Amino acid sequence: MKLARRSNIAPSLTLAMNTKAKQMRAQGLDVISFAAGEPDFHTPDHIKDAGKKAIDGDKTYYTPVSGIVELKEQVLRKLEGENGLHYEMDQVSINSGAKHSVFNVLFVLVEGGDEVIIPAPYWVSYSEMVRICGGTPVFVETTEGSGFKLKPEQLKKAISRKTKAFLLNSPCNPTGAVYTRDELFSLAELLEDQDIIVISDEIYEKILYDDNRHASIAAYSEKLKNKTVVINGMSKAYSMTGWRIGYAAGPKEIIGAVNKLQGHTAGNPTSISQWASVKALDEGTAFVKSWVDEFTKRRDYILSELNSIDGMSCTTPGGAFYVFPNIKELLGRSFGGKQIENSVEFAHYLLEEGHIAVVPGQAFGAEGYMRISFATSMDNIVEGMKRLKGALA
Ligand SMILES: Cc1ncc(COP(=O)(O)O)c(C=O)c1O
Repeated sequence: MKLARRSNIAPSLTLAMNTKAKQMRAQGLDVISFAAGEPDFHTPDHIKDAGKKAIDGDKTYYTPVSGIVELKEQVLRKLEGENGLHYEMDQVSINSGAKHSVFNVLFVLVEGGDEVIIPAPYWVSYSEMVRICGGTPVFVETTEGSGFKLKPEQLKKAISRKTKAFLLNSPCNPTGAVYTRDELFSLAELLEDQDIIVISDEIYEKILYDDNRHASIAAYSEKLKNKTVVINGMSKAYSMTGWRIGYAAGPKEIIGAVNKLQGHTAGNPTSISQWASVKALDEGTAFVKSWVDEFTKRRDYILSELNSIDGMSCTTPGGAFYVFPNIKELLGRSFGGKQIENSVEFAHYLLEEGHIAVVPGQAFGAEGYMRISFATSMDNIVEGMKRLKGALA
């Protein structure tokens, strides 16, 4: 059988680690997973109740392609109130998760010959989505020294005649980097006069630590907003990963094209989830504070443990729920009689020897690192850190 060339997609290393961890569990082994990309809290009851009410109220039919008016109104209110971004109804599209939003936007923008600038380390799916669309991802490496944040001069260097879009993610998965408003605006200043669409993935907006604040690059000026698509959704802030609701807000032309695409592909995002999301946005995120307090405790514990390991060092994430330790000094060394050459081998070793699942940095375009999610219980974290130290002893 001959599959289309665009189906030649790199398998997700994240999923590969999860699958192996699951197989080991099925064999009766006690594996602790630090590979999760979702909060370990339940969807709040008022949101679940709204979903149940939608079912009982027979809100179970096709909805408008771009989403129900009630949800779009809530999204408009949220973007205006929290992000200072005013949009009209036809500038918002509700999609089946933020991942779907990013894909839809890339699909209507990017074609063969186009380049998309992506700061590395980057979320696994960005590069593959660009490739599926026929485009070329152009990675720009950021370092620990700059807090894993892209500098305007780096962005300037990466821009070419072929640059179609710039994909920004703050707070960032996997590094936890949070751009300040000034940092975003210095990138915005450079982008304002370029013929480049900015795609700003703000899905971790609410998961912020210490005195970090979220800002949207689109708030820089009306001119920049007119070439920016803001992506957000319900997954991380409301612990609604399985409900699959995300949204894109931006120029009418792009959103109109996204809606046409969605009309012929997904049709509409799940009606029940849309109604639950109306309730979620209407009630707000007061409960997130207690989640962030809990995440902060876990983050601080993990950081102190990781930084006490010889050969490992870890910067402090300002947002999201991952730490991204540098393991470069550990590579090339032998553990358990086996020389470990790269982050993939390192992750496999930790899984086989320590029964802990992490995601190798390679998955995020950053060899010499690994990602540990702290969206798991403190008990798991304490035990997992013990196992990590044991495996490296
Ligand atoms: C950076 C980033 N963007 C988007 C998503 C996708 O979110 P959703 O569940 O809304 O599709 C994720 C999920 O892990 C993510 O890490």
